[in-house]
Amino acid sequence: MCPRLGPRVLRAAASVHPWLPLLLPECRTMAQARQELRWLTEQFGVRSAKLHRACALRSRHVPLQYILGSQPFGDLDIKCRKDVLIPRWETEEWAMRLTEAMKEVLGGEKKHTRPWKVTDLCTGTGCIPLTILNETRETLKDPGLDIGAIDISPNAIQLTQENYKHNFPRDVRNPGNLQTPDNTQPPSSINFNIQKLDILDSSQVTKYTDKHLGVINILTCNPPYIPMQDFIKDVRSSVRVYEPKLALVADLEFYENLVEVWIGQRLIESFVYELGNIEQAEYVQKNVPPNWNVGVRYDSDQRPRCVYGYDSTAPHNYKHLFEIFAS
Ligand SMILES: C[S@@+](CC[C@H](N)C(=O)[O-])C[C@H]1O[C@@H](n2cnc3c(N)ncnc32)[C@H](O)[C@@H]1O
Repeated sequence: MCPRLGPRVLRAAASVHPWLPLLLPECRTMAQARQELRWLTEQFGVRSAKLHRACALRSRHVPLQYILGSQPFGDLDIKCRKDVLIPRWETEEWAMRLTEAMKEVLGGEKKHTRPWKVTDLCTGTGCIPLTILNETRETLKDPGLDIGAIDISPNAIQLTQENYKHNFPRDVRNPGNLQTPDNTQPPSSINFNIQKLDILDSSQVTKYTDKHLGVINILTCNPPYIPMQDFIKDVRSSVRVYEPKLALVADLEFYENLVEVWIGQRLIESFVYELGNIEQAEYVQKNVPPNWNVGVRYDSDQRPRCVYGYDSTAPHNYKHLFEIFAS
């Protein structure tokens, strides 16, 4: 938390810039407040009415990314908007590691003839599947990539489409009726589909998988995973007030759905799910069939961050892929 803001600190801030004091309550330090002011002035100018409004919104704890309208994620510029969760560094860290492992292992599997099929559930801004597309499309262009992005929220679906267009304006096949600005044809081996779906409704999942035939090689998901009591007790008020509860609050539902539907109906060969607590990983570990190997990846803060697993009878070298991923 921010130290108490005495008049001396506020005067010192005001001597740097008249609106810097507005940024102090949300920032932990003066250095952080000055950094934010730099980002905001880059976007809105030095003393504009827009800058004043942006600083006033920050003083009411509106997240910086909703004010700036975007957030870097790997090499991508991900647009952010109210009602869709802002991507977090923890997710970026594992998603980038997964793409490194995919390039190293799947890129070497020359026998594979169909495009690699990767599906991201609970996609939000689309940051995970768009990063996979960006990082691996060169290495995996032969035999190709078939990437799916799924969310229940129409706002998330709309934003994923915008992020896809924004980051890949020219060279990727259009989902639905998106138009590339210059009508160039994307490489035919690359496909990116965006779909609105409630993954906890098994009849909707069955309809989707009947339409998109073929086993999914890698299923990724950053589901809502904060139990309600922790949401009330531990989550910062700026997150509680401004970010969508639909994106945050749940407990075991999405891990049960992984085990019962995606693994139980043999729809996937491997998965990576982000975690809120180790009990969620233990649930998956205890309930997968015996031919599944399951592990936990820790983030750079040494917190358990992902549960991952693969079918040991599947014909690809997932063992090596997940050894790299977990390291
Ligand atoms: C924690 S956010 C993750 C967003 C994004 N993948 C990321 O990492 O920034 C969870 C997402 O799950 C979506 N969601 C919640 N319930 C869902 C359901 N039953 N089916 C599909 N998506 C759901 C929410 O709309 C939200 O976008």
